[in-house]
Amino acid sequence: MSETFRALLVEESAPKTFTRRVTDRKLSDLPEGNLLVRVKYSSLNFKDALSAIGHPGVSRKFPHTPGIDAAGEVVECGSGAFSPGDEVVLTGRDLGMNTPGGFGQFIRVPSDWAVPLPKGLSLREAMIFGTAGFTAALSVRKLLAAGVGPDSGDVLVTGATGGVGSIAAAILAKTGYRVVASSGKAAAGEMLKKLGAAEVISREAVVENADRPMLKERWAGVVDCVGGETLAAALKATRYGGTVTCCGLVGSPDLKMNVYPFILRGVSLFGVDSVECPMEPRLEVWKKLAGPWKLDNLEALADECTLDELDPKIEAILHGQLMGRTLVRLS
Ligand SMILES: NC(=O)c1ccc[n+]([C@@H]2O[C@H](COP(=O)([O-])OP(=O)(O)OC[C@H]3O[C@@H](n4cnc5c(N)ncnc54)[C@H](OP(=O)(O)O)[C@@H]3O)[C@@H](O)[C@H]2O)c1
Repeated sequence: MSETFRALLVEESAPKTFTRRVTDRKLSDLPEGNLLVRVKYSSLNFKDALSAIGHPGVSRKFPHTPGIDAAGEVVECGSGAFSPGDEVVLTGRDLGMNTPGGFGQFIRVPSDWAVPLPKGLSLREAMIFGTAGFTAALSVRKLLAAGVGPDSGDVLVTGATGGVGSIAAAILAKTGYRVVASSGKAAAGEMLKKLGAAEVISREAVVENADRPMLKERWAGVVDCVGGETLAAALKATRYGGTVTCCGLVGSPDLKMNVYPFILRGVSLFGVDSVECPMEPRLEVWKKLAGPWKLDNLEALADECTLDELDPKIEAILHGQLMGRTLVRLS
């Protein structure tokens, strides 16, 4: 096995100035860990782009290789949990944050970060889902657990052309919900209708009259990827007893609002975290993604690139310009 491999490396070339390049790394550059994986695919998430520009909320140790997602083959496993050649999927934990991540051809991590590739998915398909799909599925799982089912009424998905939003919209539509997808992209309609959205509305339509204490009841459930004013407006327009999930902050991490939706309409707000999700629900959700929630149009969501082609995609996702999922091929 070659001792060197290709990886995207982010370096702090001057204080708070970050540069990135694809370069050779050595296996000895990887941290300690009992699982060595040859990465076949990774994917680009919003968080990877933050890591790639040196955002201290994501990565603090440089030089660094981002990539919160990785799918590949086990080379060595010291814990006995996996055998060489086993196919595994990794999302979250510290991967790609301060542990070198999936934008390198090898990763070395604790073996309890990995899940076996679920039956019914290829490594490539697992990474089309990636953290975004896993988070979308966790959000749908929360709606279901709170009693918001396909017959409850309209479910709003915000940031709907993004990674989490597009997969959430598609899973909800596949499982019989009436999905209203909100997007800031004028050209999003066709894509979102193909994913199964019954209605596509603008970002502005979600936040219209949002300064009012409460809004007309519209949503039985909401999958919010945006935060800020969008999340506040969605909560104010959620129907009596409805449920809102919150996973993202592309709009803003702030939530400025009153308590009326909670105390007058019994609305619930659930947080969604994919990073530290315990193993039991992690395995359950991957099984769903490989089974009943596997999307017929999964390939249509994927735009594939190599490490050398990743740089402009990082810029695009930072500006909210990507649609669907960007798959990174490492071999
Ligand atoms: N909690 C977790 O475990 C977890 C896991 C995964 C992701 N996340 C977070 O969830 C969010 C979405 O992640 P992602 O990977 O889906 O990102 P993404 O692919 O970049 O999608 C985000 C989408 O949000 C919309 N958007 C972008 N900027 C916006 C703005 N300023 N105001 C309103 N809408 C905006 C855009 O969709 P439209 O153009 O269609 O509106 C964009 O495509 C991110 O904040 C990410 O960090 C959290």
